[in-house]
Formats: sequence, structure tokens, C-alpha cells
Amino acid sequence: MHVPGPLSSKWTAYLGLLSALSAAFAPAVAVKEHDFKKCHQSGFCSRNRAFADHALASSSWQSPYNIAPESGSFRDGQYKGVILKTINDNGETVRLPITISFLESGTARVTVDEEKRQKGEIELRHGSKARKERYNEAERWVIVGGTTLDKAAKVDYEDKSQLTVKYGPSAKFEATIKFFPFSIDFKRDGSSQIKLNDQGLLNIEHWRPKVEKPAPEKKEGESDEENKTEETKEEPKAENESTWWDETFGGNTDTKPRGPESVALDISFVGYEHVYGIPSHASPLSLKQTRGGDGNYQEPYRLYNADVFEYILDSPMTLYGSIPFMQAHRKDSAVGVFWLNAAETWVDITKGKDYKNPLSLGTKSKTSTHTHWISESGLLDVFVFLGPTPKDLTAKYGELTGTTAMPQEFSLGYHQCRWNYVSDDDVKDVDRKMDKFKMPYDVIWLDIEYTDEKKYFTWDKHSFTDPIGMGKQLDSHGRKLVTIIDPHIKNVDNYPVVAELKSKDLAVKNKDGNIFEGWCWPGSSHWIDAFSPAAREWWASLFKYDAFKGTMENTWIWNDMNEPSVFNGPETTMPKDNLHAGNWEHRDVHNLNGMTFQNATYHALTSRKPGELRRPFVLTRAFFAGSQRVGAMWTGDNQAAWDHLAASIPMVLSQGIAGFPFAGADVGGFFGNPEKELLTRWYQAGAFYPFFRGHAHIDARRREPYLVGEPYTTIIAAALRLRYSLLPSWYTAFRHAHIDGTPIVKPMFYTHPSEEAGFAVDDQFFVGNTGLLAKPVTEKDKTTVDVWIPDAEVYYDYFTYYIIPTAKGKNVTLDAPMEKVPLLMRGGHVFARRDVPRRSSALMKWDDYTLVVAVGRDGRKAEGDLYVDDGDSYQYQSGQYIHRRFIFDGAAKSLSSVDAEGREPGSVAEGEWLKRMRGVGVDRIVLVGVPESWVGKKSVKVESEGNVWEAKMEVTPAAEGRAAFAVVRKVGVRIGADWRVVF
Ligand code: NOJ
Repeated sequence: MHVPGPLSSKWTAYLGLLSALSAAFAPAVAVKEHDFKKCHQSGFCSRNRAFADHALASSSWQSPYNIAPESGSFRDGQYKGVILKTINDNGETVRLPITISFLESGTARVTVDEEKRQKGEIELRHGSKARKERYNEAERWVIVGGTTLDKAAKVDYEDKSQLTVKYGPSAKFEATIKFFPFSIDFKRDGSSQIKLNDQGLLNIEHWRPKVEKPAPEKKEGESDEENKTEETKEEPKAENESTWWDETFGGNTDTKPRGPESVALDISFVGYEHVYGIPSHASPLSLKQTRGGDGNYQEPYRLYNADVFEYILDSPMTLYGSIPFMQAHRKDSAVGVFWLNAAETWVDITKGKDYKNPLSLGTKSKTSTHTHWISESGLLDVFVFLGPTPKDLTAKYGELTGTTAMPQEFSLGYHQCRWNYVSDDDVKDVDRKMDKFKMPYDVIWLDIEYTDEKKYFTWDKHSFTDPIGMGKQLDSHGRKLVTIIDPHIKNVDNYPVVAELKSKDLAVKNKDGNIFEGWCWPGSSHWIDAFSPAAREWWASLFKYDAFKGTMENTWIWNDMNEPSVFNGPETTMPKDNLHAGNWEHRDVHNLNGMTFQNATYHALTSRKPGELRRPFVLTRAFFAGSQRVGAMWTGDNQAAWDHLAASIPMVLSQGIAGFPFAGADVGGFFGNPEKELLTRWYQAGAFYPFFRGHAHIDARRREPYLVGEPYTTIIAAALRLRYSLLPSWYTAFRHAHIDGTPIVKPMFYTHPSEEAGFAVDDQFFVGNTGLLAKPVTEKDKTTVDVWIPDAEVYYDYFTYYIIPTAKGKNVTLDAPMEKVPLLMRGGHVFARRDVPRRSSALMKWDDYTLVVAVGRDGRKAEGDLYVDDGDSYQYQSGQYIHRRFIFDGAAKSLSSVDAEGREPGSVAEGEWLKRMRGVGVDRIVLVGVPESWVGKKSVKVESEGNVWEAKMEVTPAAEGRAAFAVVRKVGVRIGADWRVVF
């Protein structure tokens, strides 16, 4: 698939290493699949699947987990007790302390630990220095709020075998905790929504010493892994020890000093047919079943952050980041769970009408979704959200794990990247050409080749002779530079960064406690251990302007390879028995690793210079729940292929509903060379990703958008300008995401939770609250698209104002010739644009606004908002922002602007930015769908700040399906002031 070019020696080396790891060199698209485990190749996954098979096949199965009733107590919104796990026929038990917390937010949390390990009463094999406890620090990284106990939660019923607690808003929620066997039934308004251990798949593999037994005989020619699988099949019980201890995959042996320690639980969504979330996977938004059957997957969804290049589509295979947050949805109801565990995790999904306890259904739908969550180690820690709306779920989840940071405003613009811009002259040339072709862009990126032989924080002195000169040229048009900094530090002499990493003892260790050495781009490398506070402090010192010379205030950072990617490691990552700060095993924290690194960089960027208080921009490839607080992500190494373009949309939507909406895919596709049509369509789609970056592999031909040739160049320029004109609305959508965790691009089930036909639609979306409905073209030679219309509102074509002949719940075919991105305006919304095209977002900062009113059906009300701040500092936190609500009242024929948060004029002392915004106004108002009676009107009355004046209006009558529309020019109101326009 690759034709390695002259600069690709490292990539070729990477491929070589990988192919050496796999027995045979499979076709390109399948290379990675074989390098990654399937469930049956992962001991704990196969054990738990076998456990499930056994339990579900047996009519007499009873979960061996019971709460010791005398152990339990309920106080101040929290139940504490001990689960006894029966481990043999003699009735011997293991004590598993359980805490069930009912939180003020209405969220419930169930945490199960292992007493022996809490007390450190276990022995580790191989003389390991690893911690004895189950990993209990994920919370420190992930949870930032919403954990106050609900003191009003009350025990409603209690007897020897169960306890019912009422909690949540107006005590609408209840949890019935059954003791024999342990299970919890979460109800809302009296009906079951989520059940834990209802199928009896709870499995907490307790610590046990290894008793040496003679090894099972292997058949001739049989590998260890095959051997294990066979045995698992034969005797599907936890007693099968073949995968308990040292495990080998792809030539790497995991020493597993604590033996088997997985945690698993079944979570049933009662009466729910759709589940969403648990990104990142290249799969549909509505998750598929995973235990075979027509159109279903055979494998569980896997969450184990990994460097999976050339990933295959429509697959539950793991990708670069993990968010173990799942939402279940049915008509008018949404519930969810967040599985707080940073170890390797697999999730099986089955749906069926054969629910075990039909009497407890209490819902109209008979189909339920059963999920089986399996993590290799750590605590069992699960949060339960009872909705009832998708918005409640994202808000509650956002309260716990934090919301999208307010971004640097420039980062919503277009980013021009490739591996690699080869010199500072090259960068300056691209910068000039983008101007020449009138293509707005904000950021140009430098991939790994800018460094001196992959030594981060250095520059290649031959090709980047004057980074400051380069930075200054970019800055002259308000543009930025992003440079890549990866977590692997080249292991070489005369490189002060690695020397300090070693002398200060800040690197990840191997199982023996020595510095871990592995391979990545620079060759032999060590990895910063960003779990260590001292390492993070040191990391910050490297980014100071006088340390990372050549960087300026317009330099920002890209963190790649932070899964971490280790070319010669198991599954291209770190050995699980590596050790991090506090002697936690890598196994326990793997999925957090990327987030800790991005976090370290984020904080480093806040301290480059004393007194510089600016919002950092850091792009990450690996992520976990909480990463949304510190930057953006992209979907990794996709391909220049139509199906990858199509797959990017559900992937980006999935990020949004899982709380990390600042997401995008490489525009154009990373690997390969997109044909012109594909590249163009990708720009049109990318203009609607929250994170919009063109990127290409080192072997890909140059494809800066001005190179593509006409008519494509002009079409791409139009897509870029469309993005730029809508930046005010994108920024407003980010503000909403920041405030309450709302996704930035929203799927149909989210905006229309009652419309069942939309629950699986994942190729179209709304942008923020704008009412803009986008449906990018993702197929070759397509000149029409079918858009699913979710409601009975009127929809207008964004560009022509044609009224879409819609019918709620129907697909409408729209023309989508090459030059057009299908985009509709839903009636009832007002949104803001800036219509003067400029070179970068910074240059548009003080431009006046255009307001677009898409008048609702029957001339009804339309509403919308605009949020603006300085786009750079934290002054918005002290009120230095403008947030307006626009209300069009069809009956009163007026459009008014009020403070969206009810703040009194003058209640905030104006700082520099607010003062300057006094000069920024509303230039135009475009009203689409005005009544015919307006035709002939020439002016409107404008009232603001004690003055009344007239502005000119031009009304164009309706014609041939096009709505009547009006344009008011030179409105003359300040954007930050209260005003009213009467038509
Ligand atoms: C892998 C990343 O996914 C890709 O975007 C980047 O270009 C290469 N690493 C080189 O840094």
C-alpha cells in the first residue's frame, strides 16, 4: 500500500518491525488486525466470556456474590457493606467491600474493592515491586466534581434480603439492592432502567497464590495461545488456570505478578434498543451486537489505547483513545453508565426480547440491551445515570469528568498539516500560497521531521534555520504554528532532555524497576512518566520560551504516539508489567497514559512565561474520560478513501456524545492520495468537524488545497470560507459544550429523542443550537443526498433559501453537485456569522456580525444566541464576554437582543476587550421565510441605548419554491447592547 519515499526510512523501519512481529505479512488493511488481540487471545477477556457463556447457558446459574447483610449500613447518602464471593464448594469466601454512593446530582456510584488487597495482604510473584492494592487513583485523574453525597437519599424499604433507596431529583430514582445474590435494580418513576448483575456475570478475580502444577501437555506444533483457547473452550470455568499467570502474545511475555485480577459485570438496559458511546471505534454510532449473528460483530468492543495505523472500518477493534461512557436510548428516555477503569476493557453487547424477568420490564418496548463489561484489573467502579434526556446524561457526565475547555478561538479555524513541511521556507511558502488562493487558515503544523533527529525541543538546523522568522511571518496575519512533541525521548548521548529524564529519575520503569527502553521514531527511547508530579513539573520547564528556543507565543503543541506507541512493545505499546510513579503497573493505568501526557503539556503551556495567562491548545491522539478538559483529539491514521470519509462522521458524533466533542479526522485521509473529488468532498465535510485539519502521510503527494486545480480549488476555498463565516456560531457551540457538556455536533437521537426512526441515523447532524443541519456527501460521483427530516419544522436550503419539501420522518433528496455541501437551516433559529472573508480568524476579530433568522413554520418565533470573548485569555471567567440571546417574534414583527444570562447592562466593569467590542456591531440581518406581506417594505425601526433610527430593508418575494427573504443593511446596533428591530 505504501510506496516509501526518500524521507520515509523511519516509517519503513516501523513497518519492518511490525511485520517481524507478525508471523505472516498479511495484506495491508489487515496488518494491524493481526497485531492486536482478539478476545480469545486475551486471558481475562476469554475467561469472562467463558464465564458468561456458562452462566447464561445454565438455567440454575446463581451468581456467587452475596452481600453479607450484617455488614451493611446506610448513612448520609452512602451504603457500605461487604460482598462475600463464594470461591469453592466448602463455602469459603473472599471479602469484597462495596460502597454505593447516591450523589446530589442524581448519579449513583457503585464501587467494589478487594479487602485483602486493600490491606496489602497479598504476595507478588517474580519479586515484583508493583503495588498490591487494586488501582484506586483513576478518580484523581478523571473526576472533577459532582460527587457530593445526597444526604436526602433515604432508605425506603429494608428487610434481610434487600434494601431500596430513593434518591435523585424529587426522589424519582430508586435503587433496589438485593443481597442474595448481589444485584441492583435502578428505577426511574417506578420502572426498571438499569440492572447490575441481573444476569449474574459479576466476576471479580480475587488474588490467590500460584500453586505450581505440572504444565498441561501441549499437542505437537501447538502454540501457547492456541493451547489456552482450547482449554478455555473445554472447561469454561474460572478454575481453568491456563491464562492466570504469565501470558505471551506476539513474542512478548506479560509476567502478571498478581495473577488473574479482572473485574467484570453485566449491565442491562431494560427496554432499551440502542446504545451509543464507548469511543473510539470505527463503527456506527448506534453500537452493534458483539456475539455474532447476522450483521453483528463476533468480538466485543475493545478499549485499549493503541497505535492502530490503517485501521479497518466497521469494527469493534480498539483505536487510539477510550471513553468508557455508554448511553442507552429509547423513545423519550435515555440512561447511561460510566465505567471508571483505566485498564484494558472489553464490552460485549447483546440485544434481545428474551429478557429474564419480563414482569419487571415496565416499558413498552420488549427489547433490552445487555452489556458485559470486562476490565483486566483495578476497582469495579461504575456510575449510573438515569436521564431522562440525552442532554441530562451529557450534563451529568460533564459534571463528573469536566467539560470541553474553552478553546483558543483560532483552533476552530482551519489547520494545515502534513508529515512534513520540510523547512521554514516551505512553511512560509505554504503560508503565502494560501493567501494567494484566498484560502483562510489559522494554523500550520510541523510533524516530527522539524526536529534534530527526533530529539524533541530541538530544531533541524539545516532545514529550520530561522524558526522565529517563520513564526513572525505567520504572526503577521494572526496565524499560529503547532509543533509535535511526543512522549518518547531519544536515548542518545549529548541530548540534555534525555540526560535530565534519567538523572532526575522521571521515566517509566520496566518490571524490574529499571528505566524502560523501547523503540519509537527516534530509535531507542525512554518515556516520560507523566503520572509523576515531578515529571510533569520538569516537563513544564522544557516549554519555557527560553528553553524551547525558536518557539513563540503563537506556537502550540501536538501530542502524538501517547497511547503510548512503542514499536517493539506488545500490541505496539508498553509492557503491562512496566511501572509508573507510585509503582502502579502500566496494566492498571494504560488507558489514562495519553491523558496524563496531554495534561502535562497543557499545564506546561500555562507556564511558559510568568504572567502569561492564555488557554493552551494541545492536540492529542490518545485520550480517556476527562481529556476533553485539556484539548482536542483526532481519529488517527485514516486512509484517503471514501469509506474512511464516511466513517469519520459517526466517529466524530460518538466523541461528542461521550463528552469529548473537540474532534476531527484527518481531512483528505492520512494514508494514500485522495482523488480530487474525494479531497474536495472531505473539505466540505471537514468544515463541519469541530476540529478541522488537513493532514497527510509523509509518502503522500503534496495536497495543500490550492494544488488541486480548478474547479476544486475554488470549491475548497468556498468550504473554508463557509467554515470561517460560521466561526461565531461554532464558538458559541463550544461555549455550550464548556458550560454543560453538550456536544458541538449533535446526532438526531440527541436533538430529537422522541423520533425512533432517527436513532440509528449517524451521517447527518446539527451544529450547536444553530438549527444548521449538515449532511456531507461521502460517496463518489454522488450529486444528491437523502436527508432524514426529524420534525415538522420548515427547513430552508442554506445557500438558496429554497424551502425543502419536507415531511417529518421522511428522507428528502437534495441536490448536491460537487460545489455544494448539503446544508439546511431549520426554521425557528437565529445564528450569527461574519461575512467578510479574511485570511485568519484573528483578522476577523473586530468584524461586524450578520445575523440570520430562519423564520419558523407559520412565521413563528425564532431564537438563538451568540457567545463571544477574547478567544485567548481566561478573562471570560470574570465576566469579560458577550452572550446575547436573539428573539424573533413573528407576531410582534420584531427581533430583539437581550443578555442571554440576564446580566444588567453595566454590571460588569469593562476590560480592554469589552471596550474594544463596543465598536463591533450587527451589520446585516437576513431573515429567511418572511411573510409575503413584508414585500415592498423598505425600512425598519431600530431601537437601542435610548435611540431610535431607521435602517434600510430589502424584501425579495417568494418564487418557485424559494422562501421570501429580507435583508436589513447597516443595522447600526452594537453587538453587546440591548436592541430591538421592528419590521
Ligand atoms: C502518527 C500520527 O498518527 C500521524 O498523524 C503523524 O503524522 C505520524 N505519527 C508522524 O508523527
